[in-house]
Amino acid sequence: MALSLIVLAAGQGTRMNSDLPKVLHPLAGAPLVVHALAAGRALDPERVVVVAGHGADQVGKAVLDFDPEARIVLQEDRLGTAHAVAQARSQVGHGDAVVLYGDTPFITPETLERLVAARARHDVVVLGFNALDPGRYGRLVTSGDDLLAIVEWKDASPEERAIELCNSGVMAADAGVLFDLIDQVGNDNAAGEYYLTDVVGLARARGLTAGVVICDEAETLGINTRAELAAAEAAFQARKRAEMLETGVTMQAADTVFFAWDTFVGRDATIGPNVVFGPGVTVESGAEIRAFCHLEGCHISRGATVGPFARLRPGAELAEDVHVGNFVEIKNAILDEGVKVGHLTYLGDATVGEHTNIGAGTVTCNYDGVMKHRTTIGKGVFIGSDTMLVAPVTVGDGALTASGSVITQDVPPEALAVARARQANKPGLATRLFEKLRAIKAARA
Ligand code: UD1
Ligand code: CA
Repeated sequence: MALSLIVLAAGQGTRMNSDLPKVLHPLAGAPLVVHALAAGRALDPERVVVVAGHGADQVGKAVLDFDPEARIVLQEDRLGTAHAVAQARSQVGHGDAVVLYGDTPFITPETLERLVAARARHDVVVLGFNALDPGRYGRLVTSGDDLLAIVEWKDASPEERAIELCNSGVMAADAGVLFDLIDQVGNDNAAGEYYLTDVVGLARARGLTAGVVICDEAETLGINTRAELAAAEAAFQARKRAEMLETGVTMQAADTVFFAWDTFVGRDATIGPNVVFGPGVTVESGAEIRAFCHLEGCHISRGATVGPFARLRPGAELAEDVHVGNFVEIKNAILDEGVKVGHLTYLGDATVGEHTNIGAGTVTCNYDGVMKHRTTIGKGVFIGSDTMLVAPVTVGDGALTASGSVITQDVPPEALAVARARQANKPGLATRLFEKLRAIKAARA
């Protein structure tokens, strides 16, 4: 059945004390709102509508980066959650609508699936949780299986405040029904806001039914402060590390490894201490990432070894059995099978053919100050230590560059390229020079 996802992301997040809209603060390498969108993706929504307000341009851009088909609507005045959902009306299609918050990153796809499945039994379904400390959450007033009403903390009686079943804010209903109900929501309450939560009471008054699906409290964690963001990051990392160990990844110091939301590591891969993953990294089975590496937007194939102290940037593509050693940076470069880049090297905007060896201190000079250029290195090449490859340039299969060369012209296959000053030896000159320098020093003293 067609389904629309409505993500509320208009809030300013005053307590973050930030110029950045709250939903754009990153968690595990992705903005908070992207976590909500990624969970919602599991429902295969026909439409995704994000309600933006504070920093709407920036929020819209981040949303479209993740989902180019998402629709962004603007909520100019923040008059409450019902008012926020109402802004999405023109973009929502037929079928069910599911409302999520952009600042609540941990809702799982499984929970959303249970929520939508419960629509077979109820007209309106709300995601609830049993709170350890119910604080100021809205309370769910139930009778057996039925949800009678949601009462906001500010408006609740002492008996209602004693209820421990709380509203997560996530809700599912037929879109047409939901917007009809929202039309009836007023703002005559303690906050003077249009509460989305009022739709439950309004639905029942019309003879419709409402029900609750319960999830783990950890899933409903909303971010309001930097401290909560830091705690959420720690919770994410703890969970991801446990998941990695469970699926067969070896880590000697798991607590020092930081993953991104989308990191994939295959079985029997090994990750050393103090490795940081940015977004977009896949590591295949059996690869080894040694200590102190920083990886983002890259792919590492079986049998490859990386580090210690290596940096792989977006577009680094390592084929099987590639070896990347210490103090090597690789960006937007394809390294074919068996390539060795042992030490102190920068490869950017490059292609390196199989079994080529890149000597220590090699640099692809890819930037002329205005534009970027590519370096193409063939198979079985030996790049001598301290070679500068001034792009655009091509080194043919089986060629060799002499150490210290500055290569500005293409090197034909199997050729030896020497591009450095010829060495001159001056007999006895070292001794005479030292004597002269010592004499100068003595005269000064
Ligand atoms: C809301 C619920 C409460 C629930 C709690 C869970 C209502 C009336 N109350 O309370 O029952 O227990 O969430 O966290 O729905 N937003 C907009 N535009 C607005 C108002 C809010 O986009 O005009 C967004 C916020 O940015 C936020 C979300 O909606 O992401 C929830 O709003 P918030 O003000 O935090 O609601 P609570 O008072 O926490
Ligand atoms: Ca809140």
